[in-house]
Amino acid sequence: MRKIILIVVGVFALVFAKAQTQNLDATITAIKAGKLIDVENGKTLVNQIILVSHDSIIAVGSNLSIPKNANVIDLSSYTVLPGLIDCHTHITGQPGGDYYADIFRKTPVDVAITAHIYAKRTLQAGFTTVRDLGSAGLVDIALRNAINNGDVEGPTIYAATVFIGSTGSHGDLNGFSPYIKFNMPKGMSGVANGVEGVREQVRFNVKNGADVIKFGASAGVLSEEESVGAPQYTQEEMNAIVSEAKMWGRKTAAHAHGAEAIKMAVKAGVASVEHGSLVDAEGIALMKEHGTYLVSDVYDDEYILAEYSKLGFPDKIINKEKLVGRLQRENFQKAVEAGVKIAFGTDAGVYPHGWNGKQFKWMTRFGLSPMGAIQAATINAADLIGIKEKAGSISKGKRADIIAVKINPLDDVSSLENVNFVMKGGVVYKK
Ligand code: ARG
Repeated sequence: MRKIILIVVGVFALVFAKAQTQNLDATITAIKAGKLIDVENGKTLVNQIILVSHDSIIAVGSNLSIPKNANVIDLSSYTVLPGLIDCHTHITGQPGGDYYADIFRKTPVDVAITAHIYAKRTLQAGFTTVRDLGSAGLVDIALRNAINNGDVEGPTIYAATVFIGSTGSHGDLNGFSPYIKFNMPKGMSGVANGVEGVREQVRFNVKNGADVIKFGASAGVLSEEESVGAPQYTQEEMNAIVSEAKMWGRKTAAHAHGAEAIKMAVKAGVASVEHGSLVDAEGIALMKEHGTYLVSDVYDDEYILAEYSKLGFPDKIINKEKLVGRLQRENFQKAVEAGVKIAFGTDAGVYPHGWNGKQFKWMTRFGLSPMGAIQAATINAADLIGIKEKAGSISKGKRADIIAVKINPLDDVSSLENVNFVMKGGVVYKK
């Protein structure tokens, strides 16, 4: 009898152990990659196998054995690369077709209702991570959290909450009667002045969930102040924003078109200059010296000049775009040639979400190689955001954010406008 019991227990143990290994294997996904872009070394590898367990990459190599029962994804006729990262989006909205209605008839509730649509489009376009640089009503934080909870489909978001700007700045509402005021809780407009004021605003943003701090160093295009490049904070205010953010463990991104404002922001210690349109030789040298990233939205001019009059934007704004568009691209090329660090950022939301990949072509027209443009949107972007340990390349231990395209983007970078396969955190969202 004892013998029988022992045998029965033994058989159970064996079956159980077998089931366990099967279960273990079944949680592993093996991706067969015909070509794999190794962004860290700037090389293409062939016939690679990527093993994914749960949300992470557990191994990459050409001689890996695929565990029995693993879920195999055959991308042997594709080029596989890390999930793309856009370092400058406004993922919660885009123009609705009437400039004044967007300003006066919409509340953050309207924005929140549709934000998930844009998040999904962004992910479907192959962008598994975005740094979102400014949103009204803390919708970005709600969206980020809902995506992280698995309630909404979208990229991993690193969010800025409200744009910090001075009175009358790109971040303020200009061109209207001073009797018109939105009744917002303190802090929610992002308008802040003086060293104490901007420090308080940074604290407000951090308290409400900001992963990164965004402020307006210079005037902008899509706002009704007169200049497009003039500084809008003093050096002391910029220094205060950056040092306050640093104290809370946050990096800072500066919206800056103008040459002077760019230099001030770089001296203050920002991690990235956004737009950088009118950067001069001194600014380029300063960016190199400080290791500041340039995040330049070199596609947008195309869309703004083609569509924004139809979307009801005032001529004043269109004329500002005409002032900066061409110069931005020429100066981008100068910065690339000088060796300034470049991270991919599109200002998506200026144009329809999901079109983020259109910028690759423009980056290669203005100085970057296809590999350089892909690195800007992967390893460099991860470095800028501060997530190089978990994203930006297909390497062991990183998040399984993986995409694939039929046409090798190193031959034709515009293939990244139509991504065929998307995996984020080990889950396939497009196949
Ligand atoms: N958000 C930016 C601004 O209003 C968009 C600039 C778009 N134009 C351009 N050439 N990149 O200033």
